[in-house]
Amino acid sequence: MKLPFAAGLSPAHAGALVLAQAQTALYQYADADLALGEKLIHDNRCSACHVRTVGGDGTSIYRPQGRIDNPGALRGRVGCCITELNLGLFPEEVTAIAAVLQRDHYRFPAQSNAPR
Ligand code: HEC
Repeated sequence: MKLPFAAGLSPAHAGALVLAQAQTALYQYADADLALGEKLIHDNRCSACHVRTVGGDGTSIYRPQGRIDNPGALRGRVGCCITELNLGLFPEEVTAIAAVLQRDHYRFPAQSNAPR
């Protein structure tokens, strides 16, 4: 198939276009309330504690290439952390937090397996 918008572009440019498109197709948790997730992450000082472990702004604790390598595992880990902290959040709140971490840090592709 010949793509009109790619006409005249070098292979490198065409590759960059494909990459840009791939990056926009991210996995999305169903019915996730991102604003709620941002508020919960802020209110519960997730990064304040992560800073103590990894320094910086704390976000390097989120390692997409580490053990958490799919959306199901991410949501599971968020749920674990929350249980340990005795926060007692609702399942939709856990999903909202996982969705914000997915959008800002993990960025798993759309075809990743769903939460288990
Ligand atoms: C009391 C300290 C503390 C607080 C508060 C805390 N965490 Fe963590 N979190 C940790 C530690 C320590 C690790 C690293 C554990 C490890 O190395 O496996 C971690 C790891 C994680 C990971 C896995 C990172 C990865 O890719 O391996 C996620 C996701 C996470 N935390 C989410 C959260 C969220 C969301 C909150 C706020 C609701 C939160 N944490 C609050 C201590 C904390």
